[in-house]
Amino acid sequence: MRRFATYVTLGAGMLVVALVAGCRAAPPPAPPATEFRPTATVREVMGNMVDPSADILWESVATIVSQTGVEERRPRTDDEWAAVKRSAVTLVEATNLLLIDRPTGRTEDISANPSIELSPAQIDVLRKKDPQVWKDFVKKLYDASTPMLDAINNKDADTLLNSGEALDVACENCHLHYWYPPKGAPASAPSQKGE
Ligand code: HEC
Repeated sequence: MRRFATYVTLGAGMLVVALVAGCRAAPPPAPPATEFRPTATVREVMGNMVDPSADILWESVATIVSQTGVEERRPRTDDEWAAVKRSAVTLVEATNLLLIDRPTGRTEDISANPSIELSPAQIDVLRKKDPQVWKDFVKKLYDASTPMLDAINNKDADTLLNSGEALDVACENCHLHYWYPPKGAPASAPSQKGE
């Protein structure tokens, strides 16, 4: 009887060991479900939020020379400042949308110029290979956009004008890396690009 009890105890012990081992081998728990529901592609965020907003900001301040004279285009009225602010807020916050995981394009999206531009599927491969590089380029876009929002909040047209070029550089550097990298050039990190 005593011997039987030992076997039972041993058996129970082995069961515990098996359970623990089983737990160890279990796959890591799934990451917590996010509340975000990314719906648009990167191409859509670009074409519908980033690009139209940047265009309004760039075009809101300019010196236009014509036969009739020199026009200093600036937001002047409250309504004009409110309009550029809408674009600046959209642009700045779009950078957060670009940090949420989303595909570059829809499955049917192709490259418009396959000889020079990568397809969304190829861009996805690049982005997955090193997600930090993508985040760094998005951060540069944020860093270039926020001075424009600040300038608008201060109704400071000169700073708005002077911030335009840095914005262009932030767009172009990311596009050069992911969209139309120079042929044969290894894709480099943002810090290696001229700023
Ligand atoms: C973090 C990287 C990144 C930054 C910064 C960035 N873009 Fe893009 N952009 C992309 C990628 C990737 C695509 C997708 C290319 C494609 O459509 O195949 C794209 C596509 C576009 C498109 C094409 C959209 C379409 O409908 O085909 C436009 C226009 C554009 N970007 C404008 C801009 C402008 C303007 C800025 C700066 C204000 C900017 N982008 C900043 C990565 C970036």
